[in-house]
Amino acid sequence: MGNLKVTMTDVDGLTRTFDDVAEGTTLLELGKLHGVAGIMGDCGGACACATCHIYVGEGWSDKVGKPDDIEFAMLDMVADVMKDNSRLGCQVRMSPELDGLEVTVAPASEY
Ligand code: FES
Repeated sequence: MGNLKVTMTDVDGLTRTFDDVAEGTTLLELGKLHGVAGIMGDCGGACACATCHIYVGEGWSDKVGKPDDIEFAMLDMVADVMKDNSRLGCQVRMSPELDGLEVTVAPASEY
């Protein structure tokens, strides 16, 4: 148990705030732990499926950072729902500077 805060809106539009998130936890792990709708994580967090796709909340993109080339290639597979603020939840790890982060689970790709 940690003390970082994350607000997640699931794919159905339900928003929940978790305030006991441990440093080092990925957004995939957090979403799975709480059964957040739309976070699947089919590949187990290996950056190989894009079913953990989330949108980073407004104002957080600089702190969260951009996807690396491998992650970008995965996001490109779901380009129909990809946005500028897209990230893979399994590749975003909580740190003190992300305390208070807001994210929204992306809808499934139609591909
Ligand atoms: S869980 Fe598969 S890419 Fe994140």
